[in-house]
Amino acid sequence: MKEKIILFDTTLRDGEQSLKTNLGTKDKITIALALENMGIDIIEVGFPISSPKDYKTSQEISKIIKNSKICGLARCTEKDIDAVYESLKKSKNFRIHIFLATSPIHIITKLKTTLNDVIEKIIFMIKYARKYTNDIEFSCEDASRTPIKNLCLIVNAAIRAGATTINIPDTVGYTFPQEYYDIIYNLKNEVDNIDKCIISVHTHNDLGMAVGNAITAINAGARQIEGTVNGIGERAGNCALEEIIMALYTRKQNMNVYTNIKYNKIYITSKIVSEICNIPLSINKAIVGKNAFSHSSGIHQDGILKNKKTYEILDPKFIGVNETEFNLTSKSGRAAVKYHMELMGYKSNTYDINKLYNNFIKLADKKGQIFNYDLESLAFNNEIDNITEYYSVKYFNVESNSSSISIATIKLQCGNLIKLEAATGLGPVDAIYKAIIRITNYNIDLIKYRLIAKNHTEKSIGQVEIKIKYKKKIFHGIGLSKDIIEASIIAIVNSLNDIWRFDQVKKNILKNKS
Ligand code: KIV
Ligand code: ZN
Repeated sequence: MKEKIILFDTTLRDGEQSLKTNLGTKDKITIALALENMGIDIIEVGFPISSPKDYKTSQEISKIIKNSKICGLARCTEKDIDAVYESLKKSKNFRIHIFLATSPIHIITKLKTTLNDVIEKIIFMIKYARKYTNDIEFSCEDASRTPIKNLCLIVNAAIRAGATTINIPDTVGYTFPQEYYDIIYNLKNEVDNIDKCIISVHTHNDLGMAVGNAITAINAGARQIEGTVNGIGERAGNCALEEIIMALYTRKQNMNVYTNIKYNKIYITSKIVSEICNIPLSINKAIVGKNAFSHSSGIHQDGILKNKKTYEILDPKFIGVNETEFNLTSKSGRAAVKYHMELMGYKSNTYDINKLYNNFIKLADKKGQIFNYDLESLAFNNEIDNITEYYSVKYFNVESNSSSISIATIKLQCGNLIKLEAATGLGPVDAIYKAIIRITNYNIDLIKYRLIAKNHTEKSIGQVEIKIKYKKKIFHGIGLSKDIIEASIIAIVNSLNDIWRFDQVKKNILKNKS
């Protein structure tokens, strides 16, 4: 029979620890609700003794979360344990999570004590916490660097004192999978009361092995996995829960275990955590990165169109992602171009694929990534030169000072005409964008504006990426310049050129139909 893996999420504790600024109460509640919605079994909501804010937030969450168990972290002291109890007691279903370091380096140089004292303290504090609840987790901090003989003694004592979950963290992400397997295997075989507890693992990613180590620990008998959404956490982060969940699901034939997760909530939960914590995902992040389900090379795109399973082991829809996307670049083949035309509803007899593909390659070489609106323009607009731009900047000036109002002036070439406009705004970008919209008269929504420094020296270049919504379609613009206002202008002018071409195409299609 398959055994259940308990999913313990510590995004709000270990994950939050790694952020530059603390999360607000509202943000933590939003994340906790998303985790509950996704079917996480245990949510570690914070470290209540660490600050009044953390205490208050843990208290608020404990009133709201009903379907997941909630848990708070405590050092091995009465006041920490009291704080967890006091902040979580409104919940019917809470756990106290106590930890103390067990490795020689921590005991000798950090705690400046002895193994015997550590064991005594663990026994005393677990017994103390038992007056509040029977659900006690004890973590042997730095367990993976603790000699196995000592670890067996400590685990045995903690279970005798009343711990119901024993966590064996790879606190510094140092351990190799086979070593981690051996630790769990030895505990299962050497500790005589081990069956009275659930063995949990908590892995860190310093050597990139957090998920691999968690899988190997399950094979050795661990039944609780601790991790965070998107793998955020101390240093290189924790075990990424979405990765472990999908690994267990995808390889279920090889793993005799299951989770109670709602898979279709994985993607949205990842997005919520990324946005609230302000940690963008790398595009190649497993499971939830932008490219996780997008295929670039012509050979792969062709394979996918013939049989998805050639290059896709996970179904994106299963985790809540809408469509398999292709990156349309100069490496894409005709099949991918045809597929995108089909997605937009154009039958292959309505355009010339050879001509479209030749022009596609030329534009892709210039632009990098090609979007659906570019394809329409290339396919249906013989009169429009897709390389020359309708709008270009002739001159701009922005005045900005400590008062919040900025003033911008801009002169744009618009086809054969030159137009000049000025506008005020809440900041220089707002002012210049308003002036540009006055000239071009488009009814658009700016839905994303992102400024990044391309390198971190004084000579760094600003890259502005924007997304604009126009007639229910999304247009993308990128601008690069040493001057961030200029980069912002280039980005919007580029996307307005795409919008202009898009309108011309629509007009041409209508003309040809009538
Ligand atoms: O990494 C670690 O050891 C921890 C413990 C507090 C569980 O985060
Ligand atoms: Zn940790």
